[in-house]
Amino acid sequence: MSQQQTDIPKAFQIENTLEQEHYLVNGELIQWKGTKADVYSPIRTEDKSGKVGPTRLGSTPDLGEPEALSALDAAVKAYDKGQGEWPTMKVADRIACMETFVEKMKTKRDEVVKLLMWEICKTYPDAQKEFDRTIDYINDTIEDYKQMDRDSAKFEKHSGIHAHIRRGPLGVVLCLGPYNYPLNETFCLLIPALIMGNTTIFKPAKFGVLLIAPLIEAFQESFPKGVVNILFGRGRAVASPIMKTGKVDVLALIGHSSSANALQALHPKQNRLRMVYGLEAKNPAIVLPDADLDLTIDECLAGTLSFNGQRCTALKIVYVHESIVDEFNKRFSERVDALTFGLPWEDGVKLTPLPEPNKPEYIQDLIDDATSKGAKVLNKKGGEITENFCFPAVLYPVTKDMKVYDEEQFGPVTPVMSFKDIAEPLDDIAESNYGQQVSLFGKDVNTLAPLIDTLVNLVCRVNLNSSCQRGPDVYPFTGRKDSAVSTLSVHDALRSFSIRTFVASKDNDYNNAIIKELLDKKKSNFVSTDYIL
Ligand code: G3H
Repeated sequence: MSQQQTDIPKAFQIENTLEQEHYLVNGELIQWKGTKADVYSPIRTEDKSGKVGPTRLGSTPDLGEPEALSALDAAVKAYDKGQGEWPTMKVADRIACMETFVEKMKTKRDEVVKLLMWEICKTYPDAQKEFDRTIDYINDTIEDYKQMDRDSAKFEKHSGIHAHIRRGPLGVVLCLGPYNYPLNETFCLLIPALIMGNTTIFKPAKFGVLLIAPLIEAFQESFPKGVVNILFGRGRAVASPIMKTGKVDVLALIGHSSSANALQALHPKQNRLRMVYGLEAKNPAIVLPDADLDLTIDECLAGTLSFNGQRCTALKIVYVHESIVDEFNKRFSERVDALTFGLPWEDGVKLTPLPEPNKPEYIQDLIDDATSKGAKVLNKKGGEITENFCFPAVLYPVTKDMKVYDEEQFGPVTPVMSFKDIAEPLDDIAESNYGQQVSLFGKDVNTLAPLIDTLVNLVCRVNLNSSCQRGPDVYPFTGRKDSAVSTLSVHDALRSFSIRTFVASKDNDYNNAIIKELLDKKKSNFVSTDYIL
């Protein structure tokens, strides 16, 4: 499928490419005169000469070690071993900076949404949702931080010691986000890290990178210098030298455990490194004999194939009881074939081109491997492949010797297994390297109760009769084994990026007078019982 720009609705046409020439270090937009990395869309269009290929969207600076280290120096200086303006600032003042940022960010909605559609092929409704959800996340974070501050605007007393306990920052945070939610998931790390008083270096994901460009000035204008530093380039060239210095206090990463392990191993003093990771998953669906099949198929369809299966929370393997597997397979396959493939701005489109150039080939390889070992592609369109897309294939029966059984496909292929005894999927989940979420479809509480009691210890969210998902963002988002380190929710993220720290004083007249004076004169930003309303 290819188009001319003129065939595309005007609002979504790319009129000018975006040649990003600056990166943000120490409050300055620094012009880059070196090599640039071209950014292409998986959407194929005809250029002026009539040649069809991936659409060139623009370029970003291809930065290296010197620029990475200059960003690190800026973040280290702004933190100033905890003595910088930002980590010691009044909570209300940090909140004011964040409020300024969110107002400026809102003005960039159209640009960011359009780039989400072109860079990673998120559909128009989903791209809008990603932007709006991120704004909500920032506002909810501000409210939660205010509440946290109100809760700590008091003194406790135990065993004759007064304590004024708050949460303080950790230091310099390196933030690396994923390509499938390049705005939302990256900001779900960056925003809580910032508001808690840390200083940050942030590098956009490998795809979904240009969409950060419209926001750079908002960062520059909203925060003191050195608090947010934004780099472009490859992770190896930019993140590795930063980690090797040992000056990073928190590595915040949504991506694969192989990247997380490689980066954390570069830190010379790993005991000083806090890790906040959202990693890979292979969330299973378990369909019990008494499941409501209409509901189950709706949820499994959304769970397996929303955004072409490119979600860490996607259902990546489906276990169906042998008594209903034939009916499930027939109806599920028909529904998959009825999904519409198209371009992100087309009405009702569910499947879109894949941003990773090698993804169609990888999915084809998974299909070939499974079919060579006895699985069949159940749906008629399954596995139809083009340069930038692969129609989702429903594979059955999948067995444990197939790659698709344990690799995180992160794309449009759905492995289905049947089971006779519930111990089969339970044992598989217990053995698996992953432990994020599960979807459990069924009704009889006598069956569900013991299953739930086991599954909650194997994963971190059991979704009853619904697909897996991260939201609502106020709920804890985490995982076991290779699926996560630390917990993210609006509230938990504030905890993940901070540490409890407090002022203690023996209960005597001498100390109490000092504390009273500190409070009355409002000289300390930390010792304060003022409320932020
Ligand atoms: O890629 C993983 C995301 O956290 C999934 O979020 O469940 O809202 O799509 P979601």
